[in-house]
Amino acid sequence: MSKEKRLFTDILIIGCGIAGASAALEAAKSGLKVIVLSKSSKLEESNTFYAQGGIVSLGKDDYPELLKEDILEAGDNINSPKAVEILAREGKKTVDEVLIKELGIPFSRSSSDSLDYAQEAGHSRRRILHTKDTTGKTIEERFIQALKKFSNVRILAAHTAVDLLTVPHHSKNPKSFYTEPKCMGAYVLDNQTKRVRTIIAPYTILATGGCGAVYSYTSNPMGAIGDGYAMAYRAGARIVNMEYIQFHPTSLFHRDADGFLISETVRGEGGRLITKEGLTFMENYNKKRDLAPRDEVTRAIYEEMTNSNSSYVYLDLVSYAKFDIKKRFPNIHKTCLSYGFDITKEPIPVVPAAHYCCGGILVDEWGKSSLKRLCAVGEVSCSGVHGANRLASTSLLEGLVWGRRVSKHIASHFEPALQDPASIHDWYYPYKEEEVDPALINQDWISIRSTLWNYAGIIRTKKRLERAKADLDYLRHRIEKFYKEAKMDEKVVGLKHGIQVALLITYAALGNPNSLGAHFLKE
Ligand code: SIN
Repeated sequence: MSKEKRLFTDILIIGCGIAGASAALEAAKSGLKVIVLSKSSKLEESNTFYAQGGIVSLGKDDYPELLKEDILEAGDNINSPKAVEILAREGKKTVDEVLIKELGIPFSRSSSDSLDYAQEAGHSRRRILHTKDTTGKTIEERFIQALKKFSNVRILAAHTAVDLLTVPHHSKNPKSFYTEPKCMGAYVLDNQTKRVRTIIAPYTILATGGCGAVYSYTSNPMGAIGDGYAMAYRAGARIVNMEYIQFHPTSLFHRDADGFLISETVRGEGGRLITKEGLTFMENYNKKRDLAPRDEVTRAIYEEMTNSNSSYVYLDLVSYAKFDIKKRFPNIHKTCLSYGFDITKEPIPVVPAAHYCCGGILVDEWGKSSLKRLCAVGEVSCSGVHGANRLASTSLLEGLVWGRRVSKHIASHFEPALQDPASIHDWYYPYKEEEVDPALINQDWISIRSTLWNYAGIIRTKKRLERAKADLDYLRHRIEKFYKEAKMDEKVVGLKHGIQVALLITYAALGNPNSLGAHFLKE
């Protein structure tokens, strides 16, 4: 284990899902020195790894213009037209060049000479490339294998980013106050030694993924607590659209299933939502029925559950599938079976879960944030692609496209850091470090998650949001105090990030009186 207290690199990339990995691959090819951080000891652990459905390309009889229209319609037209244009025009080319040619992703085929394009809600064409129902896993594993071949890439697993390092804030030089604020790297906790390292880099890319795990029920892995939003906010970068939290309509309803996702492609392949009494209901809400935009399907399920005082509805694939379910959805079949549901024989109990944050760190078409030398890509960023609600399977594509763009841009405009590293101070530890009581951390997380789920969830009201603000503000003071005295630990750091993210979502939701896309207010 390396004991270096200070590390230097050209680009620091925090997060290793598709966005961070594609940025790292592009930077590595340009010859720059790269450090990639993952807070998990398992490098592949990321939202990308769990993505089932697939990645948008262009299907048969399909055009960038059509894709653009679908993205804008899902996003309620508050998307950035420029960002949508980039995604629609560069998407397929990037998938072909990076995923198919470079990484050799074995996308599922409908015949020996044709890729299989899946259908998902909100798409006017079948255009989703997939590797059966484990697309993200396949992509993530190939990226990691590719990155490990570069000697200029150093991957640090089990390292948790604590805060961004910014000048003048972390500088000992009083004259730095007269310079434009900039990011110079990050303070990073080595989860094993519990010591904080100073990583100095002229460019930092946040690719920390989303924040679904700040809600009680989520399709995201438990690490998705929004570290990047919290750090960027504290560093002074602009954060926008945090009220647009997308809920996936269908996660498996089971106490131990941890929000296991039942991919939208199940409905794309004909599956229909039914009540406990066996009645379809989506036709009562939208003429596109089960393939209506995700936010509408989610609210319809919520309404049906509320009306019937039930904790779930069913997703019925078996009555509608004209194909071999086990072959098309092997992972969903196997996982459901392990919880006692055979999807080839019976409907699946499902419930909505927090899934994707459509807002984030505001970035331009090259992934640059409002803070100099800080970039962000993937879910943690807000490029404007998704507007008020994300179109299914566009997130992997956005991560891939912006990951490549950010590093191409940095490589072609590279300027070494101007700040003298000796003037940057290292991490200050509390005078007396107290052992952490896990019961306190667990209870604080329960409070954060249930407050957001109940007051800033699928259906919001002004009163609920005001209550959330009051409760979370109070909790923040307690957590701050705890953080200042506690022995450094990734759980303590996570809690500090989590409460910040909960407040960002709540304040954004309170500040927007208009129901739009994933932000729905009931009066
Ligand atoms: C799914 O497979 O339903 C998830 C796809 C997505 O969220 O983009």
